[in-house]
Amino acid sequence: MNPIKCSAIIAVLLTAAAAGCISANAQAQLFSPEAKQKAQALLKEMTLEEKIGQLNESSGLVMPGLATEKPDDLIAKGGVGSILWQMNVQEINRLQHIAVEKSRLHIPIIFGFDVIHGYRTVFPVPLAMASSWDPSVEEQAQHIASQDARAAGLQLMFTPMVDIARDARWGRIVEGAGEDPYLGAAMARAQVKGFQGEHLNSDGTVVCVKHFAGYGASEGGRDYDSVYVPEELLENVYLVPFHAAEQAGAGSFMSAYMDLNEIPASGNHWLLTDVLRKDWGFQGFVLSDAFAVGSLVTHHYAKDGEDAAYKGLSAGVNMDMASLTYAHNLAQAVKDGKIAEPYIDQMVLPILETKYDLGLFEHPYADESKVEAALSRPEGLELERRLAGRSMVLLKNDNHALPLQKSLRKVAVIGPLADSKRDVEGGWTVEGLFGPGGKSHPITVLAGIKNKLGPDAQVTLVDGPRPSKVYPGMLDTITGEKPTPPPTPEEIADWIAKVKTAANDADMVVAVMGELASMNGEAASRASLDLPGIQEQMLEAVVATGKPVVLVLEGGRPLDIRWASEHVPAILEAWYPGTKGGDAVADVLFGDVNPGGKLPVSWPRTAGSEPLYYNHTRTHEPEDAPGFTSRYWDISSKPLYPFGYGLSYSTFKFANLQVSKPSMHVADTTEVKVNVTNTSSVAGDAVAQIYIHQRYGSASRPVRQLKGFERIALQPGETKTLTFPLGKEELKYWNPQTKQWVVEPSEFDVWAGEDSTASLHADLIVTQ
Ligand code: NOJ
Repeated sequence: MNPIKCSAIIAVLLTAAAAGCISANAQAQLFSPEAKQKAQALLKEMTLEEKIGQLNESSGLVMPGLATEKPDDLIAKGGVGSILWQMNVQEINRLQHIAVEKSRLHIPIIFGFDVIHGYRTVFPVPLAMASSWDPSVEEQAQHIASQDARAAGLQLMFTPMVDIARDARWGRIVEGAGEDPYLGAAMARAQVKGFQGEHLNSDGTVVCVKHFAGYGASEGGRDYDSVYVPEELLENVYLVPFHAAEQAGAGSFMSAYMDLNEIPASGNHWLLTDVLRKDWGFQGFVLSDAFAVGSLVTHHYAKDGEDAAYKGLSAGVNMDMASLTYAHNLAQAVKDGKIAEPYIDQMVLPILETKYDLGLFEHPYADESKVEAALSRPEGLELERRLAGRSMVLLKNDNHALPLQKSLRKVAVIGPLADSKRDVEGGWTVEGLFGPGGKSHPITVLAGIKNKLGPDAQVTLVDGPRPSKVYPGMLDTITGEKPTPPPTPEEIADWIAKVKTAANDADMVVAVMGELASMNGEAASRASLDLPGIQEQMLEAVVATGKPVVLVLEGGRPLDIRWASEHVPAILEAWYPGTKGGDAVADVLFGDVNPGGKLPVSWPRTAGSEPLYYNHTRTHEPEDAPGFTSRYWDISSKPLYPFGYGLSYSTFKFANLQVSKPSMHVADTTEVKVNVTNTSSVAGDAVAQIYIHQRYGSASRPVRQLKGFERIALQPGETKTLTFPLGKEELKYWNPQTKQWVVEPSEFDVWAGEDSTASLHADLIVTQ
């Protein structure tokens, strides 16, 4: 909302300040006064070509099948402001030497890359870290990632991905924090802080918050597909984590690939200028997604390269990632009078300011002698194991099937992911993707169990055939992952026989199943959520032996595990737990770590349940109305496991929910208090969750909305009283009728508990 709209608020609305309207005046300064002053001075020295150079991010790697230019000559001419896809530190320094020593104004390059969940020490994938419901997990992991990246010569991080994802078919759900704007905002803020610290500085890096905006709402969960999201849904849901990241001081944003309401996000003036800069007061720079400026032509939005350059820049994209559309066309667009040079100046300044505040002018080079030591710090690995343990979600644990006894002597470990080093870390691993690879020594679940039980235990593996990704995408081209032909009926029978023999010979079976890392991420959407390959047949064979079995899931999205949820007594969602992932899984399986993670997504029963999210509106026949218990006749419309859900080896009781001001004015804030008790004999973590619902008003409001959470450790028998504020920040919403943020006089339900189905209830009345 802009300040002018704010001042025109009608009676039920709050004043601009009280309603939380965003005022550019209140914005903290992103850049230091020194950086601003130096950037202004430098700008005065620059030719138009050099300015346009700063707006160009060139590919540092000539990729198979992609038209990219080797950047050396362009750098020497001052034509490259940034480079991406180059992780070789010697090459980074070589390119930087050209920029600093050979270009006329000696402006250093800023090197960008997708350091999504760690560099060599690979932390759990973002969806896993969000499952910790502990923002400090993200902050700690990304702080290490930031230090590692900086030591290795990278300063611009293409992360965090804060896209809300309500559809598990969308492959990129793995890269974000799931379906909820409140949880997503908390994780977004934590990541900005982890990478950048309190301010841009010479020890940290700058984030690039992506993909602005609405990318996760692609139709049918198909990657890159069109997005239609009305303004109220954008404001109330999709933009929330982006705004949180911006308010936390994020230095750059990445514009998304797809059409947003028929205007490509990377050429969308409303999004990139009206919302981001004018309403929110963003001071940093916008980088397009890779080739997205050039692909404004592909969208049939721009006529040609010059039109694409014009439309991208004038919409608000400062820097063109990889397409060279600005490099080839902007000068002409200025000469043709389509773009005024002062506008170019305005777009160049935040890039220079970022470089000054990151200390790149003083320290442009990575110290090659220190890189290996920096990337191999043991404390990073210890932290990784601990954070992975905090990120796992125990979905089922009938009759205390878990934790397992360390006295077990014969364990069969079954499944294609059980000993797969290339999958346990998940996708987007810096060294695995484009770099040399092989330096992180990931611990698989098989290795973790062996480490835990020691040499006296007999731990046998039946991995089975590696599932095939039928339609290989871009990542397959890059990683070299080859689609494998599906096994023949004879081969399947052979594997099933091996599974049965191993299970019969063991005291316990641990099945490790899910998706290959390459089945998630970009260009990795799926129409089905089944366990790929013959994994479910293998699981059925184990269960048929009658041997005790637990299922460990590795993956980046919830899968269709209806069969397992009925037949396997214990299921642990480990996601992709990272470099020490196998040890972390064993910590949880054998009770050294008590699981406390909770789902950041509603777990669908099957792909046909998607999109599925808990914070939907109530509509004409609510799901709980008599006779209308389901929106489908062939399947329950409720999730298999609800948002916020996750078990523990402890049990908890929530009681004494109190709202300190049960009736209050729209501009007021009340406190919600609740007691949480560990009712078991095991120390463990509870995640207290607060949900609200507005019963009437000038728009239909979601049945529930998360508005507070806290993960706490409780000793056996211990009680803690937690307090959460409920005020304008929590009660406000973007009103589709008035196009304003409002807090309305109304009645509210307040719930506290362990997940989004919590029943402990209190009332809150908000008056005018
Ligand atoms: C395309 C992806 O959409 C984006 O997330 C990534 O940061 C860029 N490529 C750069 O690798």
